[in-house]
Amino acid sequence: MRGYFAIGAEGISKPMNLGSLLRTAHAFGASFFFAIEPAFKIKEVKHSDTSDAAKHLPLYTFSSVDALMLPRGCALVGIELTDDAVELPSFFHPQAAAYVLGPERGSLSPEMQARCDHLVKIPTKFCINVGLAGALVMYDRQICQGRFARRGTNPRAKPEALPEHVSGAQKIRRKPEASE
Ligand SMILES: C[S@@+](CC[C@H](N)C(=O)[O-])C[C@H]1O[C@@H](n2cnc3c(N)ncnc32)[C@H](O)[C@@H]1O
Repeated sequence: MRGYFAIGAEGISKPMNLGSLLRTAHAFGASFFFAIEPAFKIKEVKHSDTSDAAKHLPLYTFSSVDALMLPRGCALVGIELTDDAVELPSFFHPQAAAYVLGPERGSLSPEMQARCDHLVKIPTKFCINVGLAGALVMYDRQICQGRFARRGTNPRAKPEALPEHVSGAQKIRRKPEASE
């Protein structure tokens, strides 16, 4: 798979939710995790994350939205159920993306929404659990970017295997010569 992604949460208040998000992010191959103003000590997460993901996945904490630092070229994607957000099934996942989720009893702050390059919503009737929302976004990225056998056209049809990937010949790009 090309590119990388990270998952983060703003103002998260339940260690259980952060632990579950961390575990899911680790399972889906996230490159790092970030928390902005978490409302508890990060150490407490250990009790809720039995996979000890924090040992395998870098976890960065930031004291404010302004303090948040991301790698150059990494798009910040806010996950929030707002009117103007793009629906997840129609969203093109950036190659380098940091997805950020909001607090359990609130939404992404206006400052965070303003900082986001994209806002994406999961088409549900109302807000779902933050850990579950994160898992759905990661799953969607996985099915969009992974090379999986195509679904059958009916329940009895077998998935259609994709052809083997063949790398093209080496391409050397030269700068066009300056015209005289
Ligand atoms: C449980 S929700 C927050 C509660 C919600 N604002 C309310 O109605 O009370 C926590 C976070 O999960 C994410 N979330 C939950 N459902 C979502 C959806 N359908 N689309 C996008 N994000 C969602 C958002 O990041 C949200 O800030």
